[in-house]
Amino acid sequence: MSEPKPTYRHDYRPPAYRVTHVGLTFELYPAATLVKASLQLERNPECELDEPLELDGEQLILKSIAIDGQPLAGDEYTLGESGLTVHRPPQRFRLDTEVEIAPKENTALEGLYLSNGMYCTQCEAEGFRRITYYPDRPDVMATFSTTVIGDRGSLPVLLSNGNPVERGELPGGRHFVTWDDPFPKPSYLFALVAGDLQKVEDRFTTMSGREVTLQIWVEEENLGKTDHAMASLKRSMQWDEETYGREYDLDLFMIVAVNDFNMGAMENKGLNIFNSAAVLTHPHTATDATFQRVEGIVAHEYFHNWSGNRVTCRDWFQLSLKEGFTVFRDQCFSADVNSAPVKRIEDVAFFRTAQFAEDAGPTSHPVRPDHYIEIGNFYTLTIYEKGAEVVRMLCNLVGWEAFRRGSDLYFERFDGQAVTIEDFVACMAEASGQDLSQFMHWYSQAGTPEIDAYGEYDYAHAEYHLTLRQRTPATPGQSEKQPLHIPIRMGLVGTKTGRDLPLMLNGESLGSDGVIHLREEEQTYVFTDVSEAPIPSLLRGFSAPVQLRFPYAREDLAFLLANDSDGFNRWDAGQRLAMLALDDLIAAHRNGVEKVMDPRVVEAFRALLERGGDDKAVLAEMLTLPSEAYIAEQQPLVDVEAIHAARDFVKQSLAATLRDDFLRLYEENVSDAPYAPEPEQIAQRSLKNVALSYLMAIEDEQAIELARRQFEADHNMTDVRHALTLLTHSSRDDLATPALRAFGEKWAHDSLVMDQWFTIQVTRPQPDALDRVKHLMAHPAFSLKNPNKVRALVGAFANQNRINFHRADGEGYRLLSDVVIELNRLNPEIAARLVTPLTRWQRFDESRQALMKGELERIRAEKLSPNVYEVIEKALA
Ligand code: ARG
Ligand code: ZN
Repeated sequence: MSEPKPTYRHDYRPPAYRVTHVGLTFELYPAATLVKASLQLERNPECELDEPLELDGEQLILKSIAIDGQPLAGDEYTLGESGLTVHRPPQRFRLDTEVEIAPKENTALEGLYLSNGMYCTQCEAEGFRRITYYPDRPDVMATFSTTVIGDRGSLPVLLSNGNPVERGELPGGRHFVTWDDPFPKPSYLFALVAGDLQKVEDRFTTMSGREVTLQIWVEEENLGKTDHAMASLKRSMQWDEETYGREYDLDLFMIVAVNDFNMGAMENKGLNIFNSAAVLTHPHTATDATFQRVEGIVAHEYFHNWSGNRVTCRDWFQLSLKEGFTVFRDQCFSADVNSAPVKRIEDVAFFRTAQFAEDAGPTSHPVRPDHYIEIGNFYTLTIYEKGAEVVRMLCNLVGWEAFRRGSDLYFERFDGQAVTIEDFVACMAEASGQDLSQFMHWYSQAGTPEIDAYGEYDYAHAEYHLTLRQRTPATPGQSEKQPLHIPIRMGLVGTKTGRDLPLMLNGESLGSDGVIHLREEEQTYVFTDVSEAPIPSLLRGFSAPVQLRFPYAREDLAFLLANDSDGFNRWDAGQRLAMLALDDLIAAHRNGVEKVMDPRVVEAFRALLERGGDDKAVLAEMLTLPSEAYIAEQQPLVDVEAIHAARDFVKQSLAATLRDDFLRLYEENVSDAPYAPEPEQIAQRSLKNVALSYLMAIEDEQAIELARRQFEADHNMTDVRHALTLLTHSSRDDLATPALRAFGEKWAHDSLVMDQWFTIQVTRPQPDALDRVKHLMAHPAFSLKNPNKVRALVGAFANQNRINFHRADGEGYRLLSDVVIELNRLNPEIAARLVTPLTRWQRFDESRQALMKGELERIRAEKLSPNVYEVIEKALA
């Protein structure tokens, strides 16, 4: 097989032909759908006269092709594996093609496919080429008019982008609807849905007084699960008007829920398509975390209408232009409507675990990559989350007012265009008058910058000297790195008063919570008039996506945990303190020495539990230990067993010593108020459930009784799921087995709840987890063709059950690679994602390295999709 070839950013050339209008007609049949496309084309005036017309097309059966009504002769075009070339087209013409496709056979879930008898599409990034021959690139923008024809009985609902303009009956029990989308758009935003769907409808009046109809389309049994998504949509629309001055532009906005979907959701113009897991909620089937995730994703897709659709990307190297900005926007929205500090803590905890790992591994890439083989592999934490951190830094650097002016300028200047990251940053530079040239390195350099900080208090001169040194490690293809412009928000916390001291730097006052700018490799900052010895609180709010080290004493961290005025850094001080204790325990475990709990950690936790008055949501975060994955990320070499044992030991020690406090905390936060996904209730539930986790760590009778009662009370899914997880993850199969059975029987009809049932079982720490995975893969509710099922079972096992996935005998690795090999044929995009944990082999001991590499080699020996090929080649490079 010929090796897939990379695409390079520097090879970008504008399209030779522009499409001004597209007319599409779909005759829907499962095995043979007929797609007629009528493209209005024009040669780009800058291009050569004999420039051929290149159209992308994959897995299409061409039935006819004509220019301006004249069928093309065989020598006028060339048909290949990946497209079609028309050799000497006129300057301005109409191209008509007819192709046949087979939605029923489409298990990759890109292009047009069938999910539960319902037709739907996923075109981003390059799925439209599986629907028809087209210049499938985001810088070709056209208006679309789409006629969908289907069986009236089984497909009563026929949807596409824009507004419905005509509908009618056809012979043979068929009917049609024609949709017009007046906004020029790239093909990746095309969407079609046809099925037996029901809708929930609402209205929104925009700031200029236009009425918009809002619809959420679902299968009938899900009609009761749309309230939260609808409320989230209306809040998002209002927030984008108030915060960014952005108004919705069509008369109709639709969301459709589908069961088989590779990602969370997709922002198709006027017709967002959602993974049902990312839109459906009910107090009895979804947890608080799911309610919040749905709210965030609904907002994200809605916000794309401006940051993505009205202004889109010139090419896929610019993906973070729309994704980084839109994630930043959805994070700010969620912070505004929920607890802002908790939102930041959750996002950063996730970022430092998962994005740091990606950036340190073989698939590390810049926020704006230079090349790719398969763009589907680049919907990554780096493009999305690091991209959002970079936009957040920009916003903080120029200040909100200038950022908003820059955003207005960007939307105004580039409306209806496909642009680049430079265009975006240039608007921010223009609006703020700042020079952002050094800042651009954030987009081009991969790897997590490391900052070593060192500070000294000079009593005699009342000065504090802070030295920062930055270094970005080499990443694949980038050995040399330039110093970055890194904004560091900080305070100096007085050790006597516990208050932030005024910051005086070079005679300039930065207030008590200020930002210093690190631009050189090393810089020393001299703060003057520092009246007492301070402890520095650095990188407040995680002001830059870096790894910052400072030689804190444990007492200093306990002090910051108690006193820092920045809620985020209080939490972070607690995490750092726990990490120091965990490091000792990991070493003790490795050396076979008896483990001793650091009393300073116990006292710091006791103080948290006793002090009261804290925001409950933040307190719950502060009481949560770093995850095994995060601990692993902080170790030079990952010792899976030692990490697991050390973390368990800390949990049990804290639980044993502070048992009564946790019990009191639990009881204080029990409530039988009717469930609402509101901040105060969510905070209460998470605090109560953190307490229950500690109590269950020692598995005494009282804790077991509480967990069992919470499970049986069946008050809401957050509490039920947490209790079931604790019972299932306990050492007591007599508790786990009946609870799992009851839950599984009760929810056998609900696919999204069954996903949770799978995850709970395969993440248990007991050594039978791997056998359970195998066993559950044969369960009737499981299917390799459904990405949610794969993620809930195999993905959860490989990513959330470290102790069992990394079994010393390599059986966990073998199981994963077996699934990857099968999925490589069925769904390459999901296969390429699923293999990720194996690509991190460098982080483990030699024996595990050999086992993991052995599995990667075994995968490499298969006939691979470009997706899996690219990841495997990088992992074994
Ligand atoms: N643009 C979508 C979103 O961020 C995700 C599309 C993912 N597509 C893909 N082929 N992975 O909401
Ligand atoms: Zn997005």
